[in-house]
Amino acid sequence: MTTSALVSVRDLHVELGGNPVLRGLNAELPRGQITAVLGLNGSGKTTLLRAILREIPYRGEITFHCGHDHRHPDPRHVGYVPQKLTIDSSMPLTVRDLLGLAMQRRPIFFGFSRKVHATKAEMLHAVGADIRLLDRPLEKISGGERQRVLLALALQPEPELLLLDEPASGIDVSGQEQFYDLISRLNREKGTTILLVSHDLSMVGKHVHRVICVKDGQVHCQAAPNEITPNMLQQVFGVNFGMFVHDHQHSHTDG
Ligand SMILES: Nc1ncnc2c1ncn2[C@@H]1O[C@H](COP(=O)(O)OP(=O)(O)OP(=O)(O)O)[C@@H](O)[C@H]1O
Ligand SMILES: [Mg+2]
Repeated sequence: MTTSALVSVRDLHVELGGNPVLRGLNAELPRGQITAVLGLNGSGKTTLLRAILREIPYRGEITFHCGHDHRHPDPRHVGYVPQKLTIDSSMPLTVRDLLGLAMQRRPIFFGFSRKVHATKAEMLHAVGADIRLLDRPLEKISGGERQRVLLALALQPEPELLLLDEPASGIDVSGQEQFYDLISRLNREKGTTILLVSHDLSMVGKHVHRVICVKDGQVHCQAAPNEITPNMLQQVFGVNFGMFVHDHQHSHTDG
């Protein structure tokens, strides 16, 4: 397989609160593919995503090979679904407000045009979320509903790179399958490059093209799911893995 990298990470070092979190991490995100980051809690997965977003200071190189200038990441090119959403409860927002804010990039008290209303419904529809969510306050919707809304946001406008930090956590089993199907379809149909963090090995084995295992602030292994052995996982997670789902529904595309 010869696939060019959309993003190359070289010798990445990040310190948080005076402690080294990433210590010389090297990784490639193949263009047009889905890559999963695996690792124990606290191993630095979210930190890697935040460094790619330039949200935190780092040493080393993170290079985008797409021709855009990512010194100041532009939401048109990078979509992000964070692991945690901090909502300011003093300013209650509905789902409609949030989507509108993101689309118009102006204060919500200006109100919205009809055209934008229609597009918001489409945004929710595209991620399989109920359009009745639009008028619900953000802090009152369920975890799974929130993840879908955040994905809808991250897809607007259509990103070249999508960073998903445990996007399906809190989603029920059938919803998880749907969520991963949705991400896979997006990747297939639009060619979106996706980096996702997940603790769900069976979903990862089924839906991603590449796995990056992070341990002690470095990449311990980086391979296609069917090349990741139980032994590698044992070294990363410290527990015995009997199996890792290998049936892979994608065909790898070169390019
Ligand atoms: N602002 C901060 N100041 C100090 N330490 C931090 C800060 N943010 C994160 N850390 C520490 O950095 C380490 C890596 O955190 P990170 O959130 O990247 O882990 P993670 O792999 O995403 O874990 P999880 O699976 O629990 O989400 C952890 O030990 C965490 O406590
Ligand atoms: Mg995390």
